[in-house]
Order: sequence, then C-alpha cells, then structure tokens
Amino acid sequence: MASDLDQKLQALDKSLADLRSFMAGGVMGGAGSAGSGSSGAASAGGGSSFGSAVKPRPTAPAADGIYVSPFAATNGRAEVSFASAGSSSSRGGPSEAQLIRVAKVVENTTGIMLSGRLYDKLANALAKVGASEHVEQWIVGYEVMADRHPAHLDLVEQLTVHETYFYRDERQLEQFRRDLLPAMIRKRIAEGRMTLRLWSAACSTGEEAYTLAIIVSDVLATLATDPKIGRQAAAMNVEVLGTDISRQALARAEQAVYRTEGLGSFRNAPDYILSHFNKTTLREGMRIIEELRVLPNIRQAVRFKHFNLLSGAPPERDFDFIFCRNVLIYMNDANRLQVFRMLQRAMATNGMVLFGPTDSLKGAEIFRLHQVDGLSYYTRD
Ligand SMILES: C[S@@+](CC[C@H](N)C(=O)[O-])C[C@H]1O[C@@H](n2cnc3c(N)ncnc32)[C@H](O)[C@@H]1O
Repeated sequence: MASDLDQKLQALDKSLADLRSFMAGGVMGGAGSAGSGSSGAASAGGGSSFGSAVKPRPTAPAADGIYVSPFAATNGRAEVSFASAGSSSSRGGPSEAQLIRVAKVVENTTGIMLSGRLYDKLANALAKVGASEHVEQWIVGYEVMADRHPAHLDLVEQLTVHETYFYRDERQLEQFRRDLLPAMIRKRIAEGRMTLRLWSAACSTGEEAYTLAIIVSDVLATLATDPKIGRQAAAMNVEVLGTDISRQALARAEQAVYRTEGLGSFRNAPDYILSHFNKTTLREGMRIIEELRVLPNIRQAVRFKHFNLLSGAPPERDFDFIFCRNVLIYMNDANRLQVFRMLQRAMATNGMVLFGPTDSLKGAEIFRLHQVDGLSYYTRD
C-alpha cells in the first residue's frame, strides 16, 4: 500500500516537473481553463438592430476561411499500440487501462463520453499532445490538473465532433420561424422589451448561430410592415451568442466564411438563407474555390465566446431562445442534468429552449414541455 502511494507520488513529482518544463518551453500558447466563461475568441460589440445602418465590425484574421490547427503538421495517424491492460505498450503508447483513466477525466470535465471504439482516437490524440513518452507520469499529471492541464484544450479539440450546417433540422426551424419567434417578438414588444436575445449553445463553427440571426432578421423585416407593431419591430435590437468548448471551431465561426463545395455547410440551406451571403472565389492550385461570406448586418448581430456547458454558471442570462442541439447525445445522465440546470438559469421569463431531435432528454422534466405538431420545445416554468 505504502509503496503504491510512494510510486504515485514519484510519478506525480515527475509529471509536475515535466509540466513545468513544458510550460517554460512556451507550449502553453492559447491554452486555458475550459471552465472559463470569458473568451479569447470572443469579439467586441455584438447586438444589432437589423433596421439600422450597417456598421463595420472587426473580423478575426482569415486564412482563406480555413483554420490551421497547431497539429496540422502531424496529419497522419500517430503510432500508438496497445499493450495488455494496466501497462504501457512497448513503444510507449498508453495501455487500455490508462486510456480509461484519461477518458474519465475528459468525461468529468467536458461531458464527452469515450467508449471502447473511441479509444483508438483518444490514443492518437494523446500522442499528438505529447503524452506518448512518460505516459504514466503524464496521465497522473492530467488526473491532478484536469481542465487546468495545459494540454487539456488541445486534447478536447481532437475529441469533439463539429458536424453542423446551415438550417439544420428544417422542421424545427420552420416552427421557430413561423410560430415561436413571431409570438415571442409580439410579446416582448407588448412588454416594452426591445432586445431579443438568442443563444446557440455548442455552436461549433457558427452555422447555427448565423442561421438564427438570419431567421430573426427576416421575421423582423416582415413584422416591420405590420401596421400595429411595425415601428417597434424595425427598431428591435437582436443579440445572438454562439458558444463552444472548441477554440478552433470558434475561430472559424468568427471568420464567417464558408465554402460551398461538397456535403458542407450549405447542404440544406434554402434560398432565403443564401441571400444573406456575399459570394467570393479564390484559386487553390488548379482549383477555383467558391466561398460565401455572411453579410455584415447579420455578422454584427452575432458574438462568439468560449464556454464549457459543464461550467456550472451560464455565460450570460436572460435569453429568449436557447438552441442546444446535437451535443447532449455525448453526455451521461448526471452531466446532462447539470447542463439542463445551467440552461434553466440562463433563460428569460417565458424564454424557450430547443434541443436536437435525436438528443437524449432524460432529465428535461425540470423544464415545462410543450408539444406542437410532433415537435417539442421547453419553457423555464
Ligand atoms: C455536433 S456539434 C453540434 C453543432 C450545432 N449545435 C448543430 O446542431 O449543428 C457539437 C458541438 O458541441 C461541442 N461541445 C462538446 N462538448 C461540449 C461542452 N462540454 N461544452 C461546450 N461545447 C461542447 C463540440 O465542440 C461541437 O462543436
């Protein structure tokens, strides 16, 4: 028992020494606590009255719409082999038992569940963050520091799935555009509240946040012709917040530029969504690439922030609509409930939250469920 503890302490010592030299070597760049609600990726300003003149806003430095990962140089699969459970492999890669320990830290801090079939991915991710040497020490250090570990966010980058596109889940967004949103705008105008706040929680590369801003812009333009509330609708201020745990995804969201090729961002975009972009082309070798840039009046209504859904406190409050879609599927019951409680605290009175149609919703009973035409949304009380 005592020697086991001694061994652990020695491993911890070594790991902290490794960490110190790792940090002293300047490898820390950009890493920080996943729990932070404030942001390196956040942009100033935000909020927009779509009726007002278009103001220029700062944009993140763009590299042809593509964010270059710090791991870009290690493109292929890293060499990691498994030894029998409990010991490191002969090439210094993690054993299955060690991977299980790392997966536990990842799950506790982010909610991302890594089951057996994803251990291969985890092993490669560990190799890329420099954990293939002194594996045991590295893992002990990670267990101690968890989301304060300098490599934590780099690890998370590789384990998150960023699949998203404009106008994802058409039926739900049509209900939002046709019914929920106009009703909310009328209610807020009647209350004399002239700012509408929306949150795309787990926004990935921004398509969901911009989709919401475009829909609100179009609905307000229609309501601006209403004889009763037209003047107020035209003056309504709109703020859309997009948050994600992935800084790389947020950097792409900030750029607001999307390629049209392949089964990409625009696979489901109707014409009225496309009308809110400027088309540009660029040459890449022999290829001509077409890109669409979000128009400034939409761009300026959207802000992005780094935020971990398991942070406890919401990044901001008083949201009229929260979209939290296609992220809860990765979470266990306890973590999901923690997210629900946090979202509940972020909602305005009569605010609504919408989840993805395939999200697991066990625990969502803390909200009030509404069902219309087979579609569900939730209010706080
Ligand atoms: C599949 S995408 C969904 C994007 C968008 N909501 C949609 O439905 O198209 C899931 C996103 O959740 C993010 N994510 C995973 N765990 C998270 C956490 N604990 N906090 C914040 N974002 C998280 C990932 O980085 C990824 O960008």
